[in-house]
Order: sequence, then C-alpha cells, then structure tokens
Amino acid sequence: MPVVVAPPEVVPEVVIEGLQKSFGDKSVLRGIDLTVQRGELVAIVGGSGSGKTVLLKHITAHFQPDAGRVLVADHEAAPGPAPEFAAPLLDLATIDEAHMDRLRMHWAVVFQRNALLTGTVLRNLSVEPREVKGLSDEEIRPLAIEALRDVGLDPELVLERDRDALSGGMAKRVAVARALVMDPVLLLYDEPTSGLDPEMCRQIHDLIRETHRAQPRFAEQRRGVVRTSIVVTHDTELLRRLKPRIVMLGDGEVCFDGTYDEFITRTDRRIEPYLQQMGVLHERS
Ligand SMILES: Nc1ncnc2c1ncn2[C@@H]1O[C@H](COP(=O)(O)OP(=O)(O)O)[C@@H](O)[C@H]1O
Ligand SMILES: [Mg+2]
Repeated sequence: MPVVVAPPEVVPEVVIEGLQKSFGDKSVLRGIDLTVQRGELVAIVGGSGSGKTVLLKHITAHFQPDAGRVLVADHEAAPGPAPEFAAPLLDLATIDEAHMDRLRMHWAVVFQRNALLTGTVLRNLSVEPREVKGLSDEEIRPLAIEALRDVGLDPELVLERDRDALSGGMAKRVAVARALVMDPVLLLYDEPTSGLDPEMCRQIHDLIRETHRAQPRFAEQRRGVVRTSIVVTHDTELLRRLKPRIVMLGDGEVCFDGTYDEFITRTDRRIEPYLQQMGVLHERS
C-alpha cells in the first residue's frame, strides 16, 4: 500500500494579487502579491511611509485598489470540504454592502492610536457588536467583561471608566479588548506598540501572542476556524520575540517574505538598517 501523505494545509485567509495604489502622482503600492494562510502570524514591516497602513486599509476595504485584487475569506458562507473546511474567498471589489457586513463580523482592527471613542470603556466595547452583529446591551456586557479579562484588565475597575482616564498601556489593552469582543477570526494590528515604554511593549507582545493562539469562540460553530493575525509594525523587538512570518515592503513592492530566521541572515540594503537596529548584524558575522 502506498503511503498517503496529506498535503500541507494551505488555506488562504487573505489573498492580494497585483495590488497597485497611488495618491495623486505618488505611487505607494506598485504590485503587491501576498497570500496569508489561515492561522498565520504575519508581521508587515518597512520604513515609514512604505505603505504598510495603506496595505492594511485595502484588506479592510477602506481603500480600493487602482489595479489588482484583494480577496478575504468569508466565514459566514458554507465551508468547503474536509479536511480543510476552507472558507470561500470574496473579492472585496465585487461585493455589496450586505456581503461586506458578513466579512466584518469576523475581523477586527487594533488601530495605531487606538481610536477610542469619547465615553466609557463599555461604550467603546459595545459599538461594533451592536452595529455589526446586532447584539443587545445584555448580550454585550458579559462579552465585554470576558474581553477585558482576556487582556489582563479588571472589568470592575475599567468597564465604566472614561477613555480619558486610561493610561497609555491600559488604552492599548482596551483597544485589543474592543477587537476581541468581536471574536475575530482575522485580527489586524497597526503599530500596536508605538509610543509605549519597553516594559509595556513586552506586555503587548505577549498579549498579541496569547491572543493569536487563543481559539475564537466561532470555532465551536465552524470546524477548521483558527485565528489569523496580521501586525503592521516597525518594532524590531516584537519580531525578535514573536518570530512571525515577515513581509517587508520597499519601493512599493514586497522586498522580503519569509521566516524570522531567514530575515536576520539576509543581506539586502533595505533589510540591513533593521538588522542594525536589532543588533543582530554582529551576531551574524
Ligand atoms: N489618504 C491618503 N491620501 C493621500 N496620501 C496618502 C493617504 N494615505 C497614505 N498616503 C500616503 O501613502 C504613503 C504610505 O503611507 P502609509 O501606508 O501610511 O505608510 P506607513 O508604511 O508608514 O504606514 C505615504 O506617502 C502617505 O503620505
Ligand atoms: Mg502606518
């Protein structure tokens, strides 16, 4: 009997093909090809202004491509056959608002400067579940309490606290809790550690790792579902600690795509400044 070797599980969560984007005569993305698989933890790195946030905003359909396509897994649709149970991909440019709402049910974004609304933490955690999932205040409250516990905050202390009374580290945790309350399958972060002190950065790294490994509750309803995390960052300590797949943007293209270990041994003029900052150049020689 021949031994049947199962194919590696390749289940795309996000597929970007030939993505181009300009603003006026400034060409920012010049043909990005990138497939993120289900369950991956991916860091998107690159110099300031290299288009990381613009790329992220194409995945969330805030921007439309000038050319190319962005496809995102639709976890509301019936999954494909076993063993992968892949969710079908939707081309963001071709779907209507109703389909867009279906996608929004399963993703969440932790914004660069948190983008918390005025008002209490509870209000911040309530808006998306109410507007996107149609949940009531009674349904949201226990989810909010659980999400705050998951990010290491005491719900009793912070649920009714005003946004303006949060420290920088707490505000970031609340921003992560606001994402978690949506039970996202796809979780996107934009510069999650910018502006935080080194100890707080480490805590946020750990939180990103734990959150990535945690199963979405939705996995109880849909077999095969695991969380996928995409982190836009220039935090080299995050790379060193989480060792994600690294995708680097340079000159509007993907100039590196590989493992952390490949990244730190690569000689490339666009990568070397990063490695310098990480202090790995001398370790290498
Ligand atoms: N809404 C916009 N209108 C015009 N230009 C923009 C817009 N958003 C981003 N850009 C430009 O696109 C380039 C890449 O920006 P961005 O993706 O924010 O960089 P980063 O890699 O630092 O996140 C920058 O030159 C920025 O000025
Ligand atoms: Mg940015």
